[in-house]
Amino acid sequence: MQILHTVPEIVAFRKAAQAAGKTIGLVPTMGALHEGHITLMRAARAACDVVIASVFVNPVQFGPHEDFDKYPRTFAADCEKLEAAGVDAVFHPEPADMYPEGYCTYVNVEGDIVHKLCGAQRPGHFRGVATVVTKLINLSGADEAYFGQKDAQQVVVVRRFVEDLNLPVHINMVPIVREPEGLARSSRNRYLSPAEKTAALVLFRSLKKARAAFDNGERDTSKLKQIVRDELATEKLAVIDYVELNAFPSLKPLPVVNQDALLAIAVKIGKTRLIDNIILEAR
Ligand code: PAJ
Repeated sequence: MQILHTVPEIVAFRKAAQAAGKTIGLVPTMGALHEGHITLMRAARAACDVVIASVFVNPVQFGPHEDFDKYPRTFAADCEKLEAAGVDAVFHPEPADMYPEGYCTYVNVEGDIVHKLCGAQRPGHFRGVATVVTKLINLSGADEAYFGQKDAQQVVVVRRFVEDLNLPVHINMVPIVREPEGLARSSRNRYLSPAEKTAALVLFRSLKKARAAFDNGERDTSKLKQIVRDELATEKLAVIDYVELNAFPSLKPLPVVNQDALLAIAVKIGKTRLIDNIILEAR
């Protein structure tokens, strides 16, 4: 596996792949890799000739009081996992490679999709994501790019600007990978104490309760959200940030679930903010 540190290095790598007529798959990450990320690598490996992963903790998508400095950085261990997953190259730039002095261009997705859910609590977050993902797509020359349903709103935003900016790349969404007890895998799970980890199981439990009600015919959005809130309230370490049920992928409000819908939650367990979601499929 090649390690590419700079912009000229990744451009040379992708030009060689393109000259050889190879299809390129891109998997953007911020590192601290776990089974969720590796599942994306496997999906790319199965579909593309050349797989490029990126490991870059993108400063532009973190708010001033968020965990940018504290975000786990485990590059050596990440490389072992990427190599084992058959990744061909990892792009691991420094912030100054991506945002050199004088940098002043940002991709700003406008409209509701960036203002609700995680966008409401994290102003500027999706501007940072859209900017870095646009750059990574351009640099890698990706034909296919892979994102997790874990960050379903991110997939919606990425698909939006890819279409709006006519980027010639196909965006694939990969289902959420969970720990055996149900907690969605996340780089931030390592912040949880053992007691908090047990408490965190309430996230998926609450979503499963809503899914069971949905499967039994409940279609009222407020009632489905209340089922989630009631279950979350049983865990005293859990503090709700949001419980939202919107049309998917438009993220438009939905009083009655009569089309595919995203039930998404963000919950603080101690100091750690966790997100999870399920998609309710209208049949
Ligand atoms: P990061 O949080 O490292 O996640 C990288 C990718 O892995 C995202 O597409 C995310 O949805 C996916 N992922 C994380 N946990 C997952 C799980 N349990 N199951 C399935 N997929 C999972 O998301 C980002 O980084 C950044 O915003 C990035 C897109 C790299 C831009 O900086």
